[in-house]
Amino acid sequence: MSMLNTLILWSFLALTLSGLAFAYEPKPLQDFCVADSSNSVKVNGLVCKNPMQVQADDFFFSGLHLRGNTSNPAGSKVTPVFATQLPGLNTLGISMVRIDYAPWGLNPPHTHPRATEILTVIEGTLQVGFVTSNPDNRFITKVLQKGDVFVFPVGLVHFQRSIGNGYAVAIAALSSQNPGAITIGNAVFGANPPIPGDILAKAFQVDKSVVDQLQSKF
Ligand SMILES: *[C@@H]1O[C@H](CO)[C@@H](O)[C@H](O)[C@H]1NC(C)=O
Repeated sequence: MSMLNTLILWSFLALTLSGLAFAYEPKPLQDFCVADSSNSVKVNGLVCKNPMQVQADDFFFSGLHLRGNTSNPAGSKVTPVFATQLPGLNTLGISMVRIDYAPWGLNPPHTHPRATEILTVIEGTLQVGFVTSNPDNRFITKVLQKGDVFVFPVGLVHFQRSIGNGYAVAIAALSSQNPGAITIGNAVFGANPPIPGDILAKAFQVDKSVVDQLQSKF
């Protein structure tokens, strides 16, 4: 191998490894960086408040004991505790949600572009599942009882559905201060402005009238 090739190989390896080290949220460079919501400067994350002005309440959120309102077509409600709701989460790469489910309520198929999610059932019974990426698209699903824990790997499409006639509650932690959510139905059929119907008809191999019907729902 020539000197140049060796150099290119080592540069590639170094880049790959540094890429892995910084794959998700960057490692904090201080104890904390409480988000200063009054600052309009845009950075990757949120600008830090002066540490001397930080208070206990900056690391605090109250309300996850409250049931979310599940009176909606899907019958579920996510209550987020992200950096927006809890400013002390800024730069820490972690967050939490409470998910409420009406009887047979569904948290519809969605993905978190920036986070793995670990979920535990507090009340009720859930059927959960995720689908692996192309080309296999393998569907992995399980029924969870109270106390069970399940993980949804970063970026994969997943859902939870309450199976039972009572309310269900789950608590989940996510590996980002701002995991993001892309709900498949909303993104595809509820885009604003809409994705042209003929594109979706061809993509989903259905008649355009089926696409019109789906678009009218989102
Ligand atoms: C729950 O949401 C529904 C639909 O938006 C609304 O009509 C209802 O008043 C809400 N209930 C409560 C208790 O907030």
